[in-house]
Amino acid sequence: MLSEEKTGLPKGNSGLDFDTVDISSDGRYLVIIDQTLLPGKVEFLHLDKLEDMREAIYLLKVRGAPAIGVAAAIGLYIEASHIYENYGEDKTAFFSELKKAKLYLEAARPTAVNLKWALDRMYACAESMKESSVQDIAQGLKEEALRIKAEDIHVCSKLGEYGLTLLKKGQGILTHCNAGHLATVRYGTATAPIYLGHRQGYGFKVFADETRPLLQGARLTAFELSEAGIDVTLICDNMVSSVMQKGWVQTVITGCDRVAANGDAANKIGTSGVAVIAKHYGIPFYIAAPTSTIDFETETGEDIIIEERPWEEVKNMWYERPMAPEKASVYNPAFDVTDNSLISGIITEYGIAYPPFGESLKEIKKKMEIKL
Ligand code: MRU
Repeated sequence: MLSEEKTGLPKGNSGLDFDTVDISSDGRYLVIIDQTLLPGKVEFLHLDKLEDMREAIYLLKVRGAPAIGVAAAIGLYIEASHIYENYGEDKTAFFSELKKAKLYLEAARPTAVNLKWALDRMYACAESMKESSVQDIAQGLKEEALRIKAEDIHVCSKLGEYGLTLLKKGQGILTHCNAGHLATVRYGTATAPIYLGHRQGYGFKVFADETRPLLQGARLTAFELSEAGIDVTLICDNMVSSVMQKGWVQTVITGCDRVAANGDAANKIGTSGVAVIAKHYGIPFYIAAPTSTIDFETETGEDIIIEERPWEEVKNMWYERPMAPEKASVYNPAFDVTDNSLISGIITEYGIAYPPFGESLKEIKKKMEIKL
């Protein structure tokens, strides 16, 4: 297992001195910071019921593709220990209940592939131990969940190193949604190069899109970057063209929830619009993606399932009074797909993939297989 020391970065690198997702010291609870309360309140939740863990993912108490993967992995381990408490060494019952729990968690959010990736990995770990006792399998699942967590920290620190090679001192960087410390265990994906550069005196000026309708940019990105002492300016989503036209932005970096084999990338709704505008102004647009976010089984962006969320998020949430007529219908997709032709590069923990992505992502896959 990767030790946390190997990441080479202190826990507080981002300005936040906690892990977004963790397991309690007695191993009985999934511990998350409740992101729906930020920035007003820093409150940690201790969850041990499967229903509560799934609800936390659905309601975005824990959110961001890597963070929900780690949360689901820890959650499945906790459920595995409950199954052992209820059914003892009955292996048939164990695997049947474990499968049900896996599918239940997996269905919480369909677009971020890290959720399925982490749960598949946990289930495969259990299957690889099927000759062992149920008690040992449950222990093995705890170790696998902790490995997934430690790897996330290491991978984000690598994204920081590779991403920083694309940036210059004093640059204006625009990001959308929150692909930060709060969306991972630590450091973030899109924010990892920003944090690393900040520590090295790069003096970046970051523009954070507020990210309607759930305001991840305003509530989370602006919060964590300002906590780290980074110069961050919050803008409404419809101000992107304006700040680019003024010459204030030299690079765009966003996270993503699923990259198809051809490089099309699904990320928070609004990302594809940012990419189109960046192209117009000749500004490079990068996606930061741990390889756990690359879905080689999905050929193109058209095959990615886009999560749709309740209308209340658009009409009522955050407002003291409803802000739209009752009769107006609402379309609320949580993600959109950025066409690969708009993406300048995909930053992974194995290096940066450049167009044509069909080829360069295959090279990344080869590096992943060598590592295995
Ligand atoms: O709906 P959310 O808040 O989970 O959406 C998150 C995003 O779109 C992030 O940009 C993405 O998960 C990358 S996280 C490193």
